[in-house]
Amino acid sequence: MTSWTQTDLHYLSTNLSNADVAHRTGRSEAAVRGKRQRMLAAAGKPAAVTTPKDDFKTEKAPLEFGYIPLDVLDGDEWTRIGLVADTHLCCKEERLDALHAQYDLFESEGIKDVFHAGNIVDGYIPKINGGSVYETSIDGQATYCVEHYPARKGVTTHFITGNDHEGWWQKEGFNFGAYLEFVAKNQGREDLHYIGHVEADVELIIPGKKHDRPQLMKIQHPGGGSAYARSYKGQKMVESFQGGEKPSILVQGHYHVSGYSYDRNVHIIGMPGFQDQTIFGRTKHLRYEIGGVILSFKLSSETGTITRLCPEFNMFYDRGFYKPFLRSDRTLIKGKQQIITGKQ
Ligand SMILES: [Fe+2]
Ligand SMILES: [Fe+2]
Repeated sequence: MTSWTQTDLHYLSTNLSNADVAHRTGRSEAAVRGKRQRMLAAAGKPAAVTTPKDDFKTEKAPLEFGYIPLDVLDGDEWTRIGLVADTHLCCKEERLDALHAQYDLFESEGIKDVFHAGNIVDGYIPKINGGSVYETSIDGQATYCVEHYPARKGVTTHFITGNDHEGWWQKEGFNFGAYLEFVAKNQGREDLHYIGHVEADVELIIPGKKHDRPQLMKIQHPGGGSAYARSYKGQKMVESFQGGEKPSILVQGHYHVSGYSYDRNVHIIGMPGFQDQTIFGRTKHLRYEIGGVILSFKLSSETGTITRLCPEFNMFYDRGFYKPFLRSDRTLIKGKQQIITGKQ
């Protein structure tokens, strides 16, 4: 135990609260309280707060608000990951221009892991997308995805599948996610990593700390119709979780709209997609937002909980907006390329 200095004893003799003295002397409130009681006892004075026997009238103990050390809130390094969803490759309304730009941003920002919340391909359901897919077979869509999905050095995409557009599982009992990873590896791509159907729980680990129950980030493709309020579906999902199964972060694909809300200690991130509005979407009056997310958060090694979290939404406009910026666009080429016929 550290002995009390003259300065400490001076603070103890003032009217400062126990919390204030604890803060100034670098000791715990309990240590300050105990020392003050011992000093009063030594001086023959009663302790400040007494509970006389046989007397129900007691003095109220003064409230001590205490201090939360900044280390508890901000003592750890940032974790940064990428989030995408609903890329719907093979659909004529896919936004590969924006998706590749998003991955360029991930790479330039040093992001190593990207989590995809489902509908990586458009699948094939004739009544919904029969007239708008480039490929209709499982093999055709898997190969198209491997050939066109962004690959960036050092970046791994961990993806789930949905039960709507990748619904071959429901109908044919075919696990498209595992098959896509297999086809990717077969073609030399190690960066497409399947992590589950409809949802996957990702454990958030603090190095060197033993956890009985680590914090979870749930990646989810819930299915069902959209709601008019963008935060509604996420909140209803969080309300339905049982207390012990709640994740710290819930990432929801499927709705194609951006949103952030916080409910029952869960950070809920609604994901935009990378697909322009389809004919199906227009008939249902659905919004289709285009974009990805860079998610930064701190997990406290003191408390094991998330203390800071920031979703950065990288939103894109419709494809016409980017036409002047496309590298292949002829408006960037100076002058006209001509052949004077009959003279060369
Ligand atoms: Fe989708
Ligand atoms: Fe979906």
